[in-house]
Amino acid sequence: MTTSPDSTRNGTRIGILISGRGSNAMAILRAVQEGRLPGCEIAVVISNIAGAGGIEAARGAGVPAVALESKGRSRAEHEQAVTALLEKFRVDLVCLAGYMRLLSAEFTQRWGSRMLNIHPSLLPAFAGLHAQRQALEYGAQVTGCTVHFVNEVMDGGVIVLQRTCEILPEDTEDTLSARVLREEHQAYVEAIARVVSGEYEVVGRRYLKSEG
Ligand code: GRF
Repeated sequence: MTTSPDSTRNGTRIGILISGRGSNAMAILRAVQEGRLPGCEIAVVISNIAGAGGIEAARGAGVPAVALESKGRSRAEHEQAVTALLEKFRVDLVCLAGYMRLLSAEFTQRWGSRMLNIHPSLLPAFAGLHAQRQALEYGAQVTGCTVHFVNEVMDGGVIVLQRTCEILPEDTEDTLSARVLREEHQAYVEAIARVVSGEYEVVGRRYLKSEG
């Protein structure tokens, strides 16, 4: 299974899906602008929430950003509109970054091997909502974040990269979330670099550097 985005064209056009403040989206954008993801370009940022802060931030950074509201539309209808926009912007790689909408099997099958998500825990621990709160309440001493390919199982796709973060005795959900978020910003950029390098392959559930 090859996971590197369209290698017949030069470069990788990234589409980022968000629902909120978009700090991961901005971290990816900064990395592109600073030349830390050579060959990558942010083609479009799409939010399913009209007032998402990440939309303004992306536009302020000179990137096309579109609000495609999911409210009041069926999942199928909304996803068709998202796919049409991703295709219009010739997106090779989709990055979910705080995208709070469940995806249908059809959408994940269409984009899955070219779609990443970031989750604020060391999966498979603490999947789903409030991952940092779950880690604290469970009494875990280490947590972190995971960038993974997206399949039809929520937070269940092949892991591209993880970064860890110690949980301190004085941590609250807010302080822990802030520290995990710093790791997320690095992890997402490193994970994209891995995926676009074409040097890795999926072997079973493992994402390994190809031999030779
Ligand atoms: C991040 O913690 C991400 O892992 C989770 O939602 C948060 C989004 O933050 N899925 P931001 O919108 O990227 O700032």
